[in-house]
Amino acid sequence: MIDDVEVLIEDGKISRLTKLKIDKPVDNVIDLKGLLVIPGLIDVHVHLRGLNLAYKEDYDTGTLAAAFGGLSTVLDMPNTEPATESVETFKLKVEAAKPKVYVNVGFYSFIPERLSEIRRLIVEGVFGFKVFMHRVMPGYRFAVLEDLREPFKLISGAGLPILVHAEKREVYEAVKRENPDGGLEAFEAALSDHSENESVDELTAMLRKIKQVKLHFCHISSHVSLRRIAEAKAEGLSVSCEVTPHHLLLSKRSYENLGIYGLVDPPLRSEACVEGLWAGVRQSVVDCIASDHAPHTLEEKTTGGVWNVKTGFPGLETLLPLMLDCVNRGWLSLSKLIRLTSQNPAKIFRIAGRGSIEVGYWADLTVVDLNEEFILDPSRFKSKAKHSPFKGWRGRGVVKGLFVNGEPVVLNGEVLSRPGVGKLLKPGV
Ligand code: DOR
Ligand code: ZN
Ligand code: ZN
Repeated sequence: MIDDVEVLIEDGKISRLTKLKIDKPVDNVIDLKGLLVIPGLIDVHVHLRGLNLAYKEDYDTGTLAAAFGGLSTVLDMPNTEPATESVETFKLKVEAAKPKVYVNVGFYSFIPERLSEIRRLIVEGVFGFKVFMHRVMPGYRFAVLEDLREPFKLISGAGLPILVHAEKREVYEAVKRENPDGGLEAFEAALSDHSENESVDELTAMLRKIKQVKLHFCHISSHVSLRRIAEAKAEGLSVSCEVTPHHLLLSKRSYENLGIYGLVDPPLRSEACVEGLWAGVRQSVVDCIASDHAPHTLEEKTTGGVWNVKTGFPGLETLLPLMLDCVNRGWLSLSKLIRLTSQNPAKIFRIAGRGSIEVGYWADLTVVDLNEEFILDPSRFKSKAKHSPFKGWRGRGVVKGLFVNGEPVVLNGEVLSRPGVGKLLKPGV
C-alpha cells in the first residue's frame, strides 16, 4: 500500500503514478483523501440476463449494480434467452448491451451445436465456453465425457478456457426421477459435494490425456474437489478455479433461516467444506472470487418445489463489502483479495491492460473505505433482484466509488456517467 499518490489519467489510461505533485494542467481533479484505491474488480462469473430475461435483470441494471459493487469488468454467462451458442446469438447480445453498459463486459458462449462455429465465435471475441456437466443446455449435445474431447481440443487450440459447472448428470437425473416431490434433502442429494468431486475427478482425468486443455472450474463448493484441483495444478495441468462469497460465508445451516429461498446450485455445504474453501484461499489453490450473480424474481425463488424453484442469488453488490469485511477480520490479506478479484482474473481470462494499477493500464479503479460500517440492505440494490441471503449482514468495508476506462462512474453514491461508458471487451494477447 502506498500513501498520497497522484494518478494522472489520459485517454482512459493511467499515464502517471507519482508521489510528487503533477504540475500539468488537467481538466478535472478528484480528491480521494482518506480512501483506498484498488484495481477495479473483475468478476468472471455473472449472469447479466437481458434480452428475453430482462425482467430479471438487464444490461443497464446489472452493470450499474456492478458499478455500485466496485466491479469494473464482468464476464457474462450464456444461459440466457436466447442462449449464446452461435455467432448470431452472440451478436444479439453485443448489440443489446453496447448502449447500456456502465462497466466493461465480456461474453462467454455455450459450445455451439456445429463445432465449426467455435472458430467464428472466437473471432467475434468470446472469453471462453461454458459447459454445464449435469444439465442439458442449448448448443452442443453430449452424452458421455468422451463427446467433449473434440470441442475441448478446438477451444484449447485457440488458447481459450473452458468453464465447467462440475456436477454429475446421472446423479442429478436419478435423484430427481426418484423424488419428484422431494424437499431440501433431495435437492442436496441431486447436487451433492460427492457429485462435484466425481465430476472434477473425471474432468482432471481427461486433462491428463489431452494436456493442452485449459479448464476453469466454476464455483467450487467442496473441499475435496479443491484438493483434487490442487493435485492437478501440482502435476502441471492447466486448471483454475473460483469460489463464491456465499460458499465462503454461508453453510447448509443457513437453510434453517433461508428455507427454499436459499437454494443455489451448487448448494450451500457443510462447515468442513467451508473451512476447506478458506484453506484453499490461504494456500492459493483458489484463483478467483466470483459472485455467480444469478438474479431472479423473489417469486421465482420461493414458489414451486425444489425442482422448479429458481436457484442462485444476486451477488454483484455484496461481493466486495463482504470480502473487505473478511480482510478486516484477518481472514485474508488485502493483497490476496486483489489477486483473487483482479490480477488472477485478468491473467486467466486474458483481459489485457486491466487488473492492476500501473502506468499504461486502463484506469479501472475501485475506491473503498475499509473502516466504514455497513448493514446490507437489498432493497437499495441497483439490481432488479432486490433480495439477498446476506440481508441484514453487518460488517466493515464499503465501496465509495468506481472509475471505468478513466471515467468516474459512481462516487459517494452518485451516478456520474451515462450508460455506454463501459466497453465490450475481447480477450487480448
Ligand atoms: O444457482 C444457479 N443459478 N446455478 C447455476 O448454475 C445457474 C444459475 C442461474 O443462471 O440462475
Ligand atoms: Zn454454474
Ligand atoms: Zn452461474
